[in-house]
Amino acid sequence: MSAAFETIAYEKGAEGIVRLTLDRPDKRNAVNLQMRDDLWSALCAFRDDPDARVLIVRGAGVAFCSGADISDFGTAPSYVQARRARRERDLWGLMLALPKPLIAAVHGYALGAGCEMSLLCDLRVASEDARFGLPEVGLGYIPSAGGTQTLPRTIPPGVALGMVLSGDAIDAGEAYRLGLVHRVVPKDELGAAAEAWGRELAAREPWALAYAKEAVRAGLDLPLREGLALETRLAALLRDARARARGSVLRS
Ligand code: COA
Repeated sequence: MSAAFETIAYEKGAEGIVRLTLDRPDKRNAVNLQMRDDLWSALCAFRDDPDARVLIVRGAGVAFCSGADISDFGTAPSYVQARRARRERDLWGLMLALPKPLIAAVHGYALGAGCEMSLLCDLRVASEDARFGLPEVGLGYIPSAGGTQTLPRTIPPGVALGMVLSGDAIDAGEAYRLGLVHRVVPKDELGAAAEAWGRELAAREPWALAYAKEAVRAGLDLPLREGLALETRLAALLRDARARARGSVLRS
């Protein structure tokens, strides 16, 4: 199944692997207001489709994503309206809360919201030409697609702060050394590497993936003792869900 959007391509393939392609290559896939709307609809569709199991996010053309569309800056009718729109449609919060695995397949530039979008994914595979950076402060803004929180939870906080303040981009090798990406592959192998990961995850039990993701993500915000309690609760919930599923099979 594929759905028509103006700024992205959404295609569900075999095994429940969904490919979401940021598709404004002429603008290096900059995130404009239309793309925010399209991403919102696509992520809701992915979340609500029981047959959609894994999402691969990638970019069309020479870059993954060059960040927020600079030409949109300052175009909101008012500050209050802009803030209300963000609150009503917390796009990045939606992405972070998805209970299914997300894989970012990054090539070329991943700047600003592009870098941050990859950080909202669970796994990141990068091609050798990938570059990650957060240039917002140099433009008089701060990262606001979660980057000030997700980056220091992914790489050493001091290094993250340095990246946020300086805006300096790092290459794929450095991103791998820091743990920002899980794998680096030659450019022509990026698609296949992401697909192979997607197939591996799509073959796993969805509830086990969802609860494991919840345990790690929510647990990171908790003191160890509470994190361990959360893990115990989620493990019990998973056992119960499995038992109920077995019961319904036996009854049918
Ligand atoms: N917003 C709006 N347009 C953007 C954009 C962005 N974030 N990034 C690139 N573009 C546009 C350029 O204006 C240009 O448009 P044009 O052909 O109509 O003139 C087109 O995309 C190609 O950009 P170009 O700079 O020629 O491509 P490049 O491959 O040489 O460089 C980048 C790519 C990403 C390094 C460079 O475009 C860049 O630095 N972009 C801005 C990144 C940024 O500051 N993002 C905002 C974070 S808040």
